Amino acid sequence: MPNPLLDTVTNNNIDTLIEPRSLQERITELANEITIDYQNQEFILVCILRGGVVFLTDLMRQISIPHLLDFMAVSSYTDGRTKSEGRVRITMDLLTDIEDFNVLLVEDIIDTGHTLKQVLELLNSRSPKSLRVCTLLDKHERREVDIKIDYVGFQIPDKFVIGFGLDDENGYWRNLPYIGVARPQ
Ligand code: PRP
Repeated sequence: MPNPLLDTVTNNNIDTLIEPRSLQERITELANEITIDYQNQEFILVCILRGGVVFLTDLMRQISIPHLLDFMAVSSYTDGRTKSEGRVRITMDLLTDIEDFNVLLVEDIIDTGHTLKQVLELLNSRSPKSLRVCTLLDKHERREVDIKIDYVGFQIPDKFVIGFGLDDENGYWRNLPYIGVARPQ
């Protein structure tokens, strides 16, 4: 039975912003940089669920040195404020004690930067040895807070993007093997 939610966006009205091959080439470059930067160091990749997971799994398989992996999930409070202004709440915390660990946070996209800023504050309060950020996509023109990002896959324009982990308003399209932009109907 057809899913009515899928009628809002079909494969036929999604424009490709970043094709699979470009994604894989850039991810390999990032992984090579990370491999060099963390040579002879213990480090842990921390992925923020859920969007970051597709990028993470491709990235980590291209990193050729040993590392650990953990996940956390956050959500924004919806107390009448917009997502960007709302406080972030941890809905699933790390299992790993990151004190004295080199931590590399992996995100799919940085938009306003509010989520990342608050997650960084939280992780920094746990005294990691170092804390860096790797994001596949950076929507820099939307930034509202000052944060340092160490590894960026692609700078992208202020468009609503889906695919490769990123979902639409109904939670679909994370499985697309490319980054797409839904064409207005
Ligand atoms: C996305 C993304 C970041 C956040 C960035 O997550 O993964 O965590 O938004 O937005 P910001 O820079 O404006 O704070 P989202 O809330 O869409 O959840 P998801 O990863 O589960 O889809």
